[in-house]
Amino acid sequence: PKVTVLHGPNLNLLGVRQPDVYGYETLDDINNALRETAVMAGWDISCFQSNHEGELIDAIHAARLDGTLAIIMNPAAYTHTSIAILDALNAFEGKVIEVHISNVHKRESFRHHSYVSLRADGVIAGLGTQGYQAALDSILKSAD
Ligand code: DQA
Repeated sequence: PKVTVLHGPNLNLLGVRQPDVYGYETLDDINNALRETAVMAGWDISCFQSNHEGELIDAIHAARLDGTLAIIMNPAAYTHTSIAILDALNAFEGKVIEVHISNVHKRESFRHHSYVSLRADGVIAGLGTQGYQAALDSILKSAD
């Protein structure tokens, strides 16, 4: 089985960008921890970050065909703007877990609406980078 992890725009700057909001862990730290957990459980994992909406959509399309059972996605700011990412996720038949490092509901009102939540099976916000592990744990458990 395979899980695909997708990170949206500006998340390449994790650890450097607004550490008061997003913490000091880097994207590599997050991906490495997820890889360790997935591999221990005998899963394949692929992690991808892009600052480009179309590249994220291409990655969702690829996940339809590469045996991916579940997508963990932090769409970052595209969460609040992208009908195109929602449409791509609607064409994916596996599980989708939406993750936000910060509690978007405690922040500006433009972060309160998520297009991706219309598709997500689960949504995690405000647990910091631990939210990705929580998402992965739930996927690994529900596939038992
Ligand atoms: C974010 C929240 C979004 O509103 C923001 O645009 C991000 C990161 C989060 O992980 O908390 O870039 O998705």
